This record gives sequence, C-alpha cells and structure tokens, in this order.
Amino acid sequence: MHRIVLNADLGQQKISRHIYGHFAEHLGRCVYEGLWVGEDSPMPNTRGFRNDVVDALRKLNIPNLRWPGGCFADTYNWKDGIGPREKRPGVVNFHWGGTVENNHMGTHEFLDLCEMLGCEPYIAGNMGSGTVREMAEWLEYITMPAHSPMADLRRKNGREEPWAIQFWGVGNENWGCGGNMRAEYYADLFRQYQSYCRHFTPGQKLYKVACGLTNDWNDVLMREAARFMHGLSIHYYTVNGPWDKKGSATDFNVDDWQLTMQKAANIEDFIKQTAAIMDRYDPAKRVGIVMDEWGTWFEVEPGTNPGFLYQQNTIRDALVAGLSLNVFHNHADRVQVANIAQTVNVLQAMVLTDGDKILLTPTYHVFEMFKVHQDATLLPTAVQAEEYVAARGMIGTAGAGGTTTLSATPQISASASRDANGVVHLSLCNLHHADAADVTCDLRGMTATGVTGRVLTAPAMNTMNTFEQPNTVEPMAFGGATLTASGLSATLPARSVVVLKLT
Ligand code: AHR
Repeated sequence: MHRIVLNADLGQQKISRHIYGHFAEHLGRCVYEGLWVGEDSPMPNTRGFRNDVVDALRKLNIPNLRWPGGCFADTYNWKDGIGPREKRPGVVNFHWGGTVENNHMGTHEFLDLCEMLGCEPYIAGNMGSGTVREMAEWLEYITMPAHSPMADLRRKNGREEPWAIQFWGVGNENWGCGGNMRAEYYADLFRQYQSYCRHFTPGQKLYKVACGLTNDWNDVLMREAARFMHGLSIHYYTVNGPWDKKGSATDFNVDDWQLTMQKAANIEDFIKQTAAIMDRYDPAKRVGIVMDEWGTWFEVEPGTNPGFLYQQNTIRDALVAGLSLNVFHNHADRVQVANIAQTVNVLQAMVLTDGDKILLTPTYHVFEMFKVHQDATLLPTAVQAEEYVAARGMIGTAGAGGTTTLSATPQISASASRDANGVVHLSLCNLHHADAADVTCDLRGMTATGVTGRVLTAPAMNTMNTFEQPNTVEPMAFGGATLTASGLSATLPARSVVVLKLT
C-alpha cells in the first residue's frame, strides 16, 4: 500500500504555466514538414503552418514556445529569415544532418505561429557565433514601436506593430555547441550581451535567461552574473546509457524500462542541486530555473537520418512526462519555465507526422491531461511509496556529459494543485512496468464530495500510437478511485498516469 498526504490548506506557491512550454528547433522534421509546409502546400495550412498540427497543439494550452534552437540557435543569423521568402539565402544546418535550410520559417513566421497557438515566444539568441549588435538589433526589430532603423525594416517586411515577447535566451549550451566556453568567459559575455538586450516597448520587460550547466559552472555563473538574469537554463535528458548506446524507443525490456524511470526520477536531484547553488547567491529565489530542454532521448527510428533525432513514443515516455511534470510542480518555488524537447517529429514529441498523416503521442496526452495544473496553486503532498528500483551507483548521463548517482526510485509519483475555481487535481504516476498500485490519500484541510478522473495506460510497456492505429493509447475515464473517511483510495493500473479531480 502506498500512502499520500495532501495538504489542501497549505498552498502558497503558484505552478507557473510556463513549465508547460515547448521547443521547436530547426532540426530534422520539426520545423519543416512538422510545423511549416509553406503557403503553396497542398496540405491544408494557415499562412504556411499545417492546420492539423496547429489544431492539435492548440488543445494543449501551450504557454510558450522556444525557438530557433538548441544548437541551431548559435548558428542562426536572424536577418537571413526576414523579407521575401524567395530572396532568403540558404544556410547549412551543420549541427543537424547538414541539410540546407531555406530560412522560410523566420522571425515573422515564428511569431505568427505563436499568435496562432496563443503562446508567448521564447527566442534563443545567437551568442556563440553572433555579435552583440546582431542580438540587440533583433530585439529592436521585434519590440520597437517607434520609428528606428530596425522597426522600419520590420514595417517594410509587412509588420506595423511590434510583437509581444517576454522570454529571451542569451545563447544555448555555450559550454558545448554554443561556443565551447568556460564558465568565467560565458559569465562575462552574458553580462555584456544582456546589457544590450532591451525591450523597446514601454512598460514591457524581458525575462533574460542565462545558460547554465551543472554545479561548478552554475556556481560561477550565479556568483558573477545572478543579478543580471531572470532565469538560469539547465537541460536534462533521460538517456538510457552512453550516447552511443541509448537504446531503442520501442524495443526494450524490463531493465531498460526501470533504468528509464530511474533516470527520469533523477531530474529531481538535479533540480535540488541546482537550487542549492542558486540559494547561495539568490536566497530570495528571484531567479528561476528554466529547464528549457528535457525529455527522453533514444536511438532514432531505424532507417531515419541519425541527425534528425526522430523517435517513436510509447507509454514509457508518457510516464517520464508525468513524473517530470510532477517534479516541476513540487519545485515550483524555483522552476519557473520548462520546455520539453521537442514539439513535432524530434525526440519526445507531442505530434509525429508522415506526409499528410499525423498522430498524437502518449506524451501529448499527458500534457493535455496535466494542463489543469497550469497557474494553479501547488498543494504540498507527502508520498510514502514502496521502492520500485533500488539505488544504482555512478552512471554516465546525458546533457552535460557527466556522471550521476541514481537514487532509489519510489513506485508512485504525485503532485496536487487547486485551480482558480477551487477544484483540486491530484496527478499520480504508477511507474511499475507490471503491477497495479493501491494508493490511499489522506486529504487534510478539505472535504471532498466527489472524485472523478482520467487514466492513460496501455496493454504493454512499449505500446504506442502508429499512423495505422493512432488511437491505441488515449486517456480514458478512470473509475478506480473512491472517497473514504480520511480522503480517498485508488488502484492505479500498472504503467499508468492518472489525474483525479476532487470537488
Ligand atoms: O534538443 C536537441 C539538442 O540537444 C539541442 O539542439 C541542444 O541544445 C541539446 O544538446
């Protein structure tokens, strides 16, 4: 029996909706084919963006979308992506498959997409190979309402009003693909670049994101530059083993499943370590953790371009998503923004496309089920769950190329919130690959009169949606929870994600 205590009267912290952010890089078939098909495409589209994908994404209430990378960001010259499309130069996307990029999705198109999705843009500026002036001019182009050289160029390209933008990344992974910098050097450059990152619309402010890594780097960066940033970007990928043996996204055994759960759960240790360093320099918690790349990273689907990072998505990915989002909720005091990698056709995607066909992945459904937590008040929960996977020692991990210690992983992950209408939602994940889980939840500080829910589960560990059978993994009504004298009890199916609604 697993036990949860939900403290309904101790809620103080808001779960920022921005932890439900997404990421669309010029990588493989994410931007081109996945989102952008062009206005002349036979596929139904709105100003070049495919309608089926945009319609599906709109249902997720995406709060912000990060673009244009990723590693691509630090090679991107924004002036290549404005003006008449037929005159835009091609560039080689040397990080991702060496394809030639035609720049047809540029600043105007990306910001148009954000308006269609009703989300805020999060642009990662080029610090690795771009100049301070280029970054400053990009912001002038986007945000200047008055007449100025860049604002007038924007007008010449068809946009009178500036766009609303809040999130601005000063580089991406500048410790690696974004320039191979040292922490001290990046900290100084960040101070310099951010000085010229201005929002030119009166009354508007930028949320400036600095590029973090792991503990040593983050310590230097916070020490030298905390006062100039609003967010510290860190990345965490769930990778089964070394980079050259990541394992298949769909063909795996119980050991692989358990390792994935353990690696995914370890994101909490990474957040705690990062938060502890930030506490030294920012005890008031003004600066947020921006987990602007996270998710599973498996081997590409057989026969696809290795540089395109196209992977299928099973119920295992759904568990990683639910678990990670619960962790972000429970650390809402520091985690202000997060972006799953990536939106369409790349890594742990929401949507996969094949020509004019699309499918919604199990991960999509978790984001749809969990959206009730966006901007809701976190209700602290205590979880006493049985151990599912024992602790492991030092093991190679992703992101920063370092090592990590994998802790013991409980079978149940949980988080709860109260929305603006007073409705309480409890999210539960049963990480077990084969066993159902009996859970009790004591409700403190509230009396529930009704409980309903939805569940996402699947017949096997590697069940997925395919283009032939796109509805195999879908949320269903959940009848496995009942109210009790002290709260509720529930039986969670094996490998399931459940969201309960308490009224
Ligand atoms: O998301 C794929 C890549 O992973 C990004 O381009 C980079 O920032 C990270 O290493």
